[in-house]
Amino acid sequence: MRAVVRDRYGPVDVLRVADVEQPDPGPGEAVVRVAAASLNMADVDHLLGRPWLARLATGLVRPANHRVGLDVAGTVEEVGPDVTGLRPGDRVWADLFDSGHGALAERVCVPASALSPLRDDVPFDVAATAPHSGSLAMLGLRAAGPLRAGERVLVNGAGGCVGPFAVQIAKARGAVVTAVDHGGKADLLRELGADEVLDHTRQDVTRTGRRFDVVLDIADTRSVLAFQRCLAPGGRYLLIARRIGSLAEKALLGPVVGALTGTRMGTFAWRPNQRTDLDELAALLASGAVRPVVDRRYGLDATQVAFERLATGSARGKLLITP
Ligand SMILES: NC(=O)c1ccc[n+]([C@@H]2O[C@H](COP(=O)([O-])OP(=O)(O)OC[C@H]3O[C@@H](n4cnc5c(N)ncnc54)[C@H](OP(=O)(O)O)[C@@H]3O)[C@@H](O)[C@H]2O)c1
Repeated sequence: MRAVVRDRYGPVDVLRVADVEQPDPGPGEAVVRVAAASLNMADVDHLLGRPWLARLATGLVRPANHRVGLDVAGTVEEVGPDVTGLRPGDRVWADLFDSGHGALAERVCVPASALSPLRDDVPFDVAATAPHSGSLAMLGLRAAGPLRAGERVLVNGAGGCVGPFAVQIAKARGAVVTAVDHGGKADLLRELGADEVLDHTRQDVTRTGRRFDVVLDIADTRSVLAFQRCLAPGGRYLLIARRIGSLAEKALLGPVVGALTGTRMGTFAWRPNQRTDLDELAALLASGAVRPVVDRRYGLDATQVAFERLATGSARGKLLITP
């Protein structure tokens, strides 16, 4: 069968499509026939082996795991011994972040515990856009505490992989949403329901005098003190971390600044791929409250092109790979 693989860390040209052995599920494993997969910025990080600290887990000099791809939706083809609750033919989806990656392939063999059942009314190409980035958006907003209707939510970096989910989930909860991103994404963000859109190349949202009840920071471009300026009394700031230095700053300094200013600032404990989270996401997708933004679709052979588009910031939504 065909799979996208890489033998070393590096930019997109390390990727190639290879003929690999048909997976044979061991105890507790299941083989999924991939219907659709999608790319996330975390896939780009995985390719490049960044941040360097992550290489302690993925291989210091060379990647220990040659397979690529987090988000997957498809059908169970075969299950190994000791697998209960899953049968061939079941529709499933997953974020393979901590289950070996490998979504960019015709089939992938993973621990059965990584797979969640996918309801019939969510098509595979819709489901495949959401497990990683949709869950990050949902968990980030949830960590801010219950959203009350009418609360003002700022989504900073709203036009990437995570942001469109965050904008729509916040709107579905009744929030008034300000989305910040590059001006070229303004129309898209308004279409998704953002009440106000600011262009980060023209305005620094932390210096506009606006105050927000919740800030979900995906772009991760300003300090904790800068974001403190735009929090309303009792406001909550949550970072979806992109850089180790910023993660440390927000995790260590955030609670101190929050305690001194009557706000709550920090990052959140990320649990990838929990079945209850995916069920909640599926309900939002099925109801239409959240609709995926798909920029382009590619076959496995064009995976390099898709990665290039994501890594250079050219994508306007998720990039789907259908084997
Ligand atoms: N626990 C955690 O926190 C956790 C867990 C897993 C993954 N992650 C990381 O979380 C990140 C998720 O982000 P993503 O996938 O949505 O990234 P993304 O696709 O790169 O989106 C980031 C957006 O921010 C915009 N942007 C750039 N500079 C900005 C600025 N100064 N102000 C406002 N917006 C700006 C970018 O637009 P332009 O560049 O076009 O201007 C882009 O649209 C990934 O890096 C992933 O690795 C975090």
